Amino acid sequence: MLLITGGLGYIASHITLEYHKNFPNENIILIDNLGNSSPERASVLSQLTNNHTIFIQVEMTNINELQLLFSKYHISKVIHCAGWKAVGESVKDPLKYYHNNLISSINLLQIMNQFNCRHLVFSSSATIYGIPIKIPINEEHPIQPNQPYGETKAVIENFLKSTASTNPDNKFISLRYFNPTGAHPSGQIPEIPNGYPNNLFPAILATIKGNIPHLNIYASPNGVSTITPDGTGIRDYLHVCDLAKAHIDCLNYMKNMEENYNTFNFGTGKGLSVKQIIHEFEKQTHQSIPKVECPPRNGDVDVVIADPSKWLNIFGWIPQTPLHEMVKTALL
Ligand code: WQD
Repeated sequence: MLLITGGLGYIASHITLEYHKNFPNENIILIDNLGNSSPERASVLSQLTNNHTIFIQVEMTNINELQLLFSKYHISKVIHCAGWKAVGESVKDPLKYYHNNLISSINLLQIMNQFNCRHLVFSSSATIYGIPIKIPINEEHPIQPNQPYGETKAVIENFLKSTASTNPDNKFISLRYFNPTGAHPSGQIPEIPNGYPNNLFPAILATIKGNIPHLNIYASPNGVSTITPDGTGIRDYLHVCDLAKAHIDCLNYMKNMEENYNTFNFGTGKGLSVKQIIHEFEKQTHQSIPKVECPPRNGDVDVVIADPSKWLNIFGWIPQTPLHEMVKTALL
C-alpha cells in the first residue's frame, strides 16, 4: 500500500485523488499530526476516493508511532510530504523546523528500512537553491538554502542520497517543487493555510474573501529592472494537479529505476510576476483587489524559474496548465 505523510495537506490531498484515479481499487494510508491541517479533510478525501483512504493521526517525531503503523499495514511505497513549510516562521523559530522536519524524516527512513519498504518520493523544494546564481535553475545548480526551511529540505535530501545506496532495492526520488498553485476542479480540497497566508495565491484569496484588509505587494529586491520589468518578483507557478501527476509518474518510474537515488526539478520553465498574477485574479473576479505596495520581503529573490529539461527528457512532459486555469481553480 501507498503511505502519504502530511496526508491531509494541500499537496498530499491532490496526490491522493490522482493516485486514486490511477489505482481506484487500492487503499491509501494518510498520516498527519494535524499541526497544519484539519481532520475534516480526511472525510472529504474518503468521500472523493470512494472510501479508499485510511487516515491515522501520527506524530512522526515519535518513532514508536511509525513503528506501530508499519507493523499494522503492509506499506510498500511512501510519498513524504509532512513538514513545516513557512519560510518566515522558520527564520523566527529554526529549531521547530530542524526538530520536526529532520527527526520525522530520520524516523521514517529508519522504519522504512526496518520493514523493507524501498520506494520513497520526497517533497523537496526549489528553496534549496537559495538566491539563484543562474536562471533557469537546473538540478546541478549549487544547493545553497538561505533560510532554515530550505536547509531542512537540503539536509533531508542528503539523508536520502546517503541512505539510498545502503540497499540495492532502495529507489528514492527528491522532487523539487517550484511554486504549486490552484486546486482540484472539484473545489473540495482548496489550500487552507493556518494563520496568516504567507504565499501569494492564498494571500490574494484571503484578500478577495475579506479575511485580510489588503494584499501586500512586495517589491522585488532589485525593483524595476530588465529581469523584473514591473518591479515585482517572478516565480515559476505550476498547477498542483500537474504536481500530483508527477508524483504518480515517480512511483511508476521506480519500477524500472536503475539508480538508487535521483532528483528532479518540477516547474514550467516560465516565469510570471506578482502583478501579472493579480491582474488575472482581477480579470476573473471583475473586482479590484485592495493592495498596498511594500518594500522587498526579507529573504525574497527577484526571479526563480525552473529548467525542466531533465524531467522532460525522462517523463516526456512538463506542467503546462495555463495561468487562467490556475486562477480559475484557485477561486473555486
Ligand atoms: C511569490 C511572490 C513575493 C505574498 C515559496 C516558499 C515556500 C515554497 C514555495 C515549498 C514573491 C510575492 C507573496 C504576498 C507578495 N513552498 N508576494 N505578497 O517566495 O517563491 O516562496 O515558494 O517549498 O512556500 O519558499 O512564494 O508565494 O511566498 O511569493 O507580493 O502576500 O509573491 O514577494 O515575489 P516564494 P510566495
